[in-house]
Parts: sequence; structure tokens; C-alpha cells
Amino acid sequence: MRRKVTIVGAGQVGATVAHMIAERGLADVVLVDIIEGLPQGKGLDLQEAAPILRFDTRVIGTNDYRDVADSDIVVITAGVPRKPGMSRSDLLETNAAIVRDVVEKVVAVAPGAILIVVTNPLDAMAYLAYRVSGLPKERVIGMAGVLDSARFRTFIALELGISVENVHAFVLGGHGDEMVPLPRYSTVAGVPITHLLPRERIEALIERTRRGGGEIVDLLKTGSAFYAPAASILEMVDAIVHDRHKILPCSVYCEGEYGAHGVFLGVPVVLGARGVERVFQIELLPEEQDALQRSIQAVRELVEALQV
Ligand code: APR
Repeated sequence: MRRKVTIVGAGQVGATVAHMIAERGLADVVLVDIIEGLPQGKGLDLQEAAPILRFDTRVIGTNDYRDVADSDIVVITAGVPRKPGMSRSDLLETNAAIVRDVVEKVVAVAPGAILIVVTNPLDAMAYLAYRVSGLPKERVIGMAGVLDSARFRTFIALELGISVENVHAFVLGGHGDEMVPLPRYSTVAGVPITHLLPRERIEALIERTRRGGGEIVDLLKTGSAFYAPAASILEMVDAIVHDRHKILPCSVYCEGEYGAHGVFLGVPVVLGARGVERVFQIELLPEEQDALQRSIQAVRELVEALQV
């Protein structure tokens, strides 16, 4: 039987990931938005591309949560994106109200779904979704690390003139300025980049990764990134649909892992059909653990401001 993936928020990120999922025939797609006609129009338009792109899966758009029933995965992109000069934290109050509303409606009709939260500020919104939904922690997952590490991998590959396929990168921590890229565990054909690039170049790539989202916002001026975020969601959906047991950095509820207690934080997890199979623990140096602690603190402050 085909899987059913609902995407709430049929804007830039939501519509792009719908396109990517449909094009691969990965699952039936339901696009949901608060704006009448928008998800229906995009859904129908995408469905009409099926004969040419050659997929037999169904795509529909709706404003009615009854269509969300029995979804296997629900991706939440509903919210407002950043404008130039804004940090992700500036979105907190507006997006918290939206995410709370969406999660309540989703769990009422699809209590068995795995939630993938995309709305920013990411780690705080994932925590909110976890608390509001009452779902087990294995089934509430924030998308951030896959995107941050994709950006780091892109910059490493461009710097060395090497295929992105040879580059693996690890980025831990919150999805904000305090994120923690780990050069020691970032490799090109298995060789740590610390053996391949001078320290100052690595620092420059890390800085660009930290500011990666902001760089796009400054260029676009009217919204934030969507191609790379959508591709990152696709990678997570694919790992779940195909039960790949794939190690991906995701924001998950930590209960002691990496020194994080009771917060959502970006850590490597094994992702499969049941959601988060387990947190993949790697050893950190004292300075890496310190950087992660600062990131945990930044996430904690945002969550405290939410008062959930
Ligand atoms: N229910 C459903 N959809 C909603 C709701 C709601 N309560 N509130 C807003 N939306 C919809 C909007 O109508 C819009 O179509 O969410 C969509 C958001 O799309 P965009 O404005 O294009 O934003 P996008 O770039 O897709 O980013 C969405 O993802 O990356 C994060 O920071 C980003 O939080 C932002 C989110």
C-alpha cells in the first residue's frame, strides 16, 4: 500500500517538498494550507504534471483536516518565514500560535503519524509540537541538521573542487547561530577535513554554514530558503518510508544524550519506519561539548520564553 504524506503549509518549502516527493512517486501527498484555493491549486497543478514526470501517486490540496486522516507522516511548514534583519527567534510568538493550532488538528485525525517539524525557530517549535501532540518522542522530529550539514557539505565540496557525494559532514546543536559544526567528523572520502584544509579556511566555511539561512534571506529579501530545506525534508521522509535506518542529524527530544536534558536538540539519530530508532552517540572533545552546551542554553532560553 502506498504511504500518505501530509504537508501543512503549501508555501515555498511545502510546495517544493510536495513536488520532490511526488516526482519520485514516494507517497501520496496531501497539501494543507489555511488559504483557500492555494493548496488545491498547487495540488492539482502538480497532479497534472504526473503523465510527464511519470508518477502514479495522488496529490491533493485541501483546507480540511479530514483529508489528513491516516497520514503516515505529517510535515509541518506552516508559519511565517524570516525577512532580512530578522533572526529565527523573532518568529517565536507568531509561529508558536500557528504550530499549536496545526498540531492539535493533526493529532485529532492522524494520531499514528510521525511529525516532521520545519517551522522556525525550529528546536522550540519541535518541542512545542511534542508537548501539544502528546506523541511519543520517537515520532516528533525537527528538520534542521540535515539542512545545516547539507550546506556545510556544499561549501566543503566547492572549496576542494570535489563531488558532494564524497563529502560527509556533521553539524550538531540548535538550528541557530549557536549550531555546532564538527570538522573532526566531517570527511572527504573518509579523510577528516582537518587533514585537508587549513584551520582558517575551515573556520570560514563553518561561519558561512552558521549564516547559511541568513545569506539566502538577505538575497531573496521576501522570504527564506526553500530548495535545500525541501530536499532535507525529502531525505528524512525517504528514510522513514523505506525504513532505511539512516543516520541523519535531526532535532529530537534528548533525555541526557550529549548532556541535553528535556530539550529538543540537533543530534545524529538512526531514522527508520518507526521514526527515531535511537540517538547515535559519538565522543566529543571538551571544547566541542562546551560549544554544544552553549547551543543547548540558547535553545532552552527560547523554550522558556514559550512557556509551554
Ligand atoms: N495552517 C496552515 N497553513 C498555514 C497556517 C495555518 N495556521 N498559517 C500559515 N500557513 C501557511 C501560509 O498560508 C503559507 O502558505 O504556511 C505557508 C508558509 O509558506 P511561506 O510563507 O512560503 O513560508 P516558507 O518559506 O515555506 O517557510 C515556512 O519553514 O523554513 C521555515 O522559517 C521558515 O517557519 C518558516 C516555514
